[in-house]
Amino acid sequence: MTKGLITVFGGSGFLGKYVIRELVKEGWRVRVPVRRPHTAQELKVIGNVGQVQLVQANLRFKDSVERAVAGSDAVINLVALLFEEGKQSFENLHVKGAETLAKAAAAQGVTNFVQVSAIGADAESDSDYSRTKAEGERAVRDAVPTADIMRPSIIFGAEDQFFNRFAAMAQLAPALPLMGGGDTTFQPVYVGDVAQAIAKAVGHGTSGKTYELGGPRRYTFKELMQFMLETIDRKRFLVPVPWAAANFMGAIGEISGMAPFVKPFLTRDQVKNLKVDNVVSDDALGFADLDIRLETIEAIVPTYLARFRKYGQFHEKRV
Ligand SMILES: NC(=O)c1ccc[n+]([C@@H]2O[C@H](COP(=O)([O-])OP(=O)(O)OC[C@H]3O[C@@H](n4cnc5c(N)ncnc54)[C@H](OP(=O)(O)O)[C@@H]3O)[C@@H](O)[C@H]2O)c1
Repeated sequence: MTKGLITVFGGSGFLGKYVIRELVKEGWRVRVPVRRPHTAQELKVIGNVGQVQLVQANLRFKDSVERAVAGSDAVINLVALLFEEGKQSFENLHVKGAETLAKAAAAQGVTNFVQVSAIGADAESDSDYSRTKAEGERAVRDAVPTADIMRPSIIFGAEDQFFNRFAAMAQLAPALPLMGGGDTTFQPVYVGDVAQAIAKAVGHGTSGKTYELGGPRRYTFKELMQFMLETIDRKRFLVPVPWAAANFMGAIGEISGMAPFVKPFLTRDQVKNLKVDNVVSDDALGFADLDIRLETIEAIVPTYLARFRKYGQFHEKRV
């Protein structure tokens, strides 16, 4: 016996796998629409035989979205981009894609809908990422007023693109950049905790709330780099980079990203986002309202960054 069917767009991504795990534990059947099902076969073994189903769909193609949503009891949207690539643009996915999905869900009578956005989503933002995230939130709420919106701060976990990326950089480079001096604050949140929040929201049935999901402590970017270097037991220079120079690095990153198969290491839009503190606002609903206890970076990050130590994870740290 299962509780019903939840369709998870973006289920093949970093957060998606943890969300599927939580839903499967709770006894839901999970449908995962993916662009290339052959690249996501490992998702099937997260559940019992037949509990996780892959279907082909692309958020940019309305017909495929409508087919993917048919028969669902709830829908979760985790699709997003960090940088644009051809038709995979912020406008097409964060706004139009979210709208297409929410309208398809509404047409099926689905009222249980979770839209994953990001802290900093703001219709007035000069960052295209944050502006389109806010426009996506609005488009979803217009179609499904009972949709819950989850806005996480930066998410950490074994496959994250934050600590892993900077630790990999520290393996090769003698110095790491601190954009704008590294004073911007973040509230890193464990991927498993965000997944639990999403699963709880659909479990209760969503009711049009917005949650801001931050971890137990705030850190400046510089503190996070110091923590990462201490964890991997490497000494590196932390070099403050003024915003104008960071912007120039973003432009170089974008040019490098034009080469085939190369992802930009930084974009000017990301630099704009790095200027704004990424923390939970005082009056926001959050984990406490969902009764979830939080993991810390100190407990979790060393379990997956140890591989970046000079002599491997079993080598004693310098004292
Ligand atoms: N990671 C963080 O630190 C963080 C922080 C704040 C908010 N968030 C939000 O959390 C959500 C999940 O983030 P994530 O880190 O898990 O992202 P991710 O790993 O990049 O996953 C993105 C997912 O979107 C799918 N996708 C991309 N284009 C698509 C399209 N045209 N049609 C259908 N699916 C498409 C990808 O599948 P393919 O395999 O097809 O590419 C992938 O499954 C996003 O909304 C993100 O903004 C993340």
